[in-house]
Amino acid sequence: MQRTQIKKYRIGKPIPTDSVVVDVELEQGAIPYFHTDEPAKRLTFSLEKEDRVYGLGETIRGMNKRGWIYTSKNADDPVHTEDKRSLYASQNFILITSDKRSLGVYVDTPGVVTFDIGYTKLNELRIDFEDFDADLYFVEGESPLSIVSQFRHIIGRSYIPPRWAFGFGQSRWGYKNAEDVRRVADQYEKAGIPIDMIYMDIDYMERFKDFTVDEKAFPNFPSFVEEMRGRGIHLVPIIDAGVKIEDGYDVYEEGVKGDFFCKKENGENLVAAVWPGKVHFPDFLKDSAREWFGNKYKVLLDQGIDGFWNDMNEPAIFYTEDHLKEVFEKIEDYKGKNLDIWSFFEFKGLVGSIDNNEEDYRRFYHEYKGQKIRHDKVHNIFGYNMTRAAGEAFEKLSPDKRILMFSRSSFIGAHRYGGVWCGDNQSWWSHLLLNIQQMPALSMCGFLFSGADIGGFGANTTEDLVLRWTAFGIFTPLFRNHAALGTREQEMYQFPSKDVFKHLVELRYALVPYLYSEFMKAALEEKMLFKPLAFEYSDERSREIEDQLLLGDSIMIAPVYKQNTTGRMVYLPEDMKLVRFRAYDDYDEEVLTKGDHYVKADLNEVLVFIRKGGVLPLAKPADRTTGVKVENLNYLCYEAKPEDYKLYEDDGESRL
Ligand code: NOJ
Repeated sequence: MQRTQIKKYRIGKPIPTDSVVVDVELEQGAIPYFHTDEPAKRLTFSLEKEDRVYGLGETIRGMNKRGWIYTSKNADDPVHTEDKRSLYASQNFILITSDKRSLGVYVDTPGVVTFDIGYTKLNELRIDFEDFDADLYFVEGESPLSIVSQFRHIIGRSYIPPRWAFGFGQSRWGYKNAEDVRRVADQYEKAGIPIDMIYMDIDYMERFKDFTVDEKAFPNFPSFVEEMRGRGIHLVPIIDAGVKIEDGYDVYEEGVKGDFFCKKENGENLVAAVWPGKVHFPDFLKDSAREWFGNKYKVLLDQGIDGFWNDMNEPAIFYTEDHLKEVFEKIEDYKGKNLDIWSFFEFKGLVGSIDNNEEDYRRFYHEYKGQKIRHDKVHNIFGYNMTRAAGEAFEKLSPDKRILMFSRSSFIGAHRYGGVWCGDNQSWWSHLLLNIQQMPALSMCGFLFSGADIGGFGANTTEDLVLRWTAFGIFTPLFRNHAALGTREQEMYQFPSKDVFKHLVELRYALVPYLYSEFMKAALEEKMLFKPLAFEYSDERSREIEDQLLLGDSIMIAPVYKQNTTGRMVYLPEDMKLVRFRAYDDYDEEVLTKGDHYVKADLNEVLVFIRKGGVLPLAKPADRTTGVKVENLNYLCYEAKPEDYKLYEDDGESRL
């Protein structure tokens, strides 16, 4: 592969992010492609009518990002509506492409950047900087895929999880004790639905303290972990960014003693509040603190745990002690006053803006590469460095075995240490579509092990939504059903259609050899796992398809994402073989010709399209991924032979 088409330019004095791992020589001279307006801190690019813009990883809106404005400023915002500009991640890689040209642009800065992609002016792409400091990488190439591969090469290999992480995982914020967890396992087993993981949300901890286990709720935790492992189930606990302030709590005390926490201007540790009440934030940007925090995972590894999810690491701040004090003082001014409309709104705003308050992100500092840096300048790499803390530690603590790790907040670079889940989505049909549309952008940015909360996290779900979402989720590497406290219970066994769920999850397990092979090829060969059609087909129609995906090299999927429908329109850029699955061993096949088709898909059916020359191996499912063997596969082919398929095999656990 050609590696010479990347050019690096610099504006200002960027704070390094360590997201690029290959040395690219710095070019001198004016920034190419863009008009540079230094006083306005803006780069401008003229978009032609045909240009489409992809990328930015986990964001809202469609695959073609044109027509909206996106701000890289990692946000703990659980309402992912179309009007939002920021989610939990900053993945500043975009690809501008048309018949005439394709250009990849990576904006490497930990600061706030806004991508105005035809929002202010339909035909203009503006990149606005809070601080005009960044390394800019321009990637040319003959196709979108070659540009993405080159980009992926410079940011380093994507994280590879253990093979068991390709199984199904059940989660819920609210499993309170060992009994609750056992019940989940029992119910899945009773329903005959395969499962490999049960996630443990904050309730497993002793008063939400990282690296502790509530002894009352989980007596003799190591033996409980072993009991569940004996049943083939991995327990995957959550780890939060904030460390509870509590005398006698070793993590807190070590952190204070070691000088590992983020500090205010005056040198005192910042006091913020999250789930545990008052916390300090480890300074993940400081090498010694990162190493210290990473090593803490050992506490749980030693008890048999082999997977984690990192949360609240934007970081989410409910309040800071200082800000809360200010708010209370100001509230005094309003006491007894007759609030007119303006003072009422001021008052309301005062209380309503306590959490994730802008001002709070300017109240603390990091020690990063020998410099004291105010948090807001490096905000977007905070979560990344928490994941990095874990990833770097795992290499030492578990040199032989891969550990499952994924995070909520991310930045490019974090893709080397873990995957991501897409945060607090809602049980809305529109969020199923959003999940579909997020996958290729995540692939572009190297986040291969990713997925969203199936069934939706917030709000009450419905059985048909969980069915349709599961029918899509069986294709995403991270395949997890998760829901918020207080919402309707949405484990698959809660619904009457247990058999349909069983068939869906069994189909996932049958697909594991394909998914794992394609995932590994994508990781090792710097390829995309999920691709928009337009990345492989150059016809006009393919460019506008936003609800179908190419998955690996052999198949296209077309999930149903609308309520009360029993099928959908599917566009085929070439003849393909439709396989309509009702179960891994119950399906019909039909060759459909290039063009538009209305394809039936009932609530119990999954549509897979095998591409010309494509081969889809199917295994016999098992209750656990360990039981899914690669011998005696059933090969579904279209104008290809089983031998044409390159199966990737390894022990699924050793580090590579
Ligand atoms: C926020 C996370 O996004 C969610 O998944 C989790 O359930 C809650 N925090 C509670 O830990």
